[in-house]
Amino acid sequence: MEQQGKNTNGWAWEKPVLGIETSCDETAASVVADGRILSNVVFSQTDHSRFGGVVPELASRNHIRKVIPTILSAVEAADLSLEKLGGVAVTQGPGLAGCLLVGISVAKGIALGSGLPLIGVHHIEGHLIAGALEHPDLDPPFLALVASGGHTELIHVTAWGTYGVLGRTRDDAAGEAFDKVAKLLGLLEEGKVTMGGPPISAMAESGDPEAFDFPRGLRDADGFDFSFSGLKTAVLYHLRDRSDTQNSKERADVAASFQAAVIDVLVHKTLQAARHLGVARVLMTGGVAANASLRAKMKSGVPDRNFRVYAPSPHLCTDNAAMIAAAG
Ligand code: KG4
Ligand code: ZN
Repeated sequence: MEQQGKNTNGWAWEKPVLGIETSCDETAASVVADGRILSNVVFSQTDHSRFGGVVPELASRNHIRKVIPTILSAVEAADLSLEKLGGVAVTQGPGLAGCLLVGISVAKGIALGSGLPLIGVHHIEGHLIAGALEHPDLDPPFLALVASGGHTELIHVTAWGTYGVLGRTRDDAAGEAFDKVAKLLGLLEEGKVTMGGPPISAMAESGDPEAFDFPRGLRDADGFDFSFSGLKTAVLYHLRDRSDTQNSKERADVAASFQAAVIDVLVHKTLQAARHLGVARVLMTGGVAANASLRAKMKSGVPDRNFRVYAPSPHLCTDNAAMIAAAG
């Protein structure tokens, strides 16, 4: 029997938990024990880029090929065997149905075969708990901005397991806007890059964020909902109607101005929601929270020195199984 106790988050110390994540185009497995990551293996599928977005059937097939080797390498990297585990946690949703099915089926098989408990984890709760993995002092209540390829939500975390959604996107997610604009700019290199965020933020470094005044949907509207589809369409029309889009300075200006518009809305709404709730702590998580400019702008926008902004390391912002194991 492993030692029992509590860590600083008040979570019970557990035997190592295997986490499995297959909700979209990352096949991931990880072992977490006592809030410590013992291994964290992520296989990112790159063969969707030529289609301009994730193809669900292709993603499911890739998961089938990769899930067992990924799990085995996570268990091996943790220097464990399946018998040493205390449970199996798997993303149960939301996500692509066929993709989720692969992870859940394998997790069920392992749990049944090894007599381990099976724990279904909500993917967004995983992103929230990613914040606490590296920051044991992140105790509720706090406000979380979850911004990823599938979600843009402001969540009031009143206790672990108790969540209230203040607002969410009415159309595209913030990460989806990055992905679509990256496609418009021809930045999704075939077979190599599937996420639009990193190449846009790299290109934006040499651009002027004030070059173009792209729309900031719902920024000044009442409530805490987001809208990014108008911004994406504005970039589409801008690129179509301007003649000098082959010019690299112009393209960098578009990337920088687009990124500035997304960040302006995310920072403004998040800090406004924190004020509304009277909380002085904000967690940014999900793939878009890996964005260096967003991290810097959120930190520089805080009202006073007592206000704290948390964000997981970039590799724990994007999809991973450590957050699923920890949530489990
Ligand atoms: O959390 P995640 O890996 O998957 C979902 O749950 O959706 O988020 C992936 C999203 C993609 O849309 C990607 O373009 C975006 O996060 N992303 C970024 C950055 N890194 C990833 N967006 C902006 N800047 C980044 N550095
Ligand atoms: Zn995610």
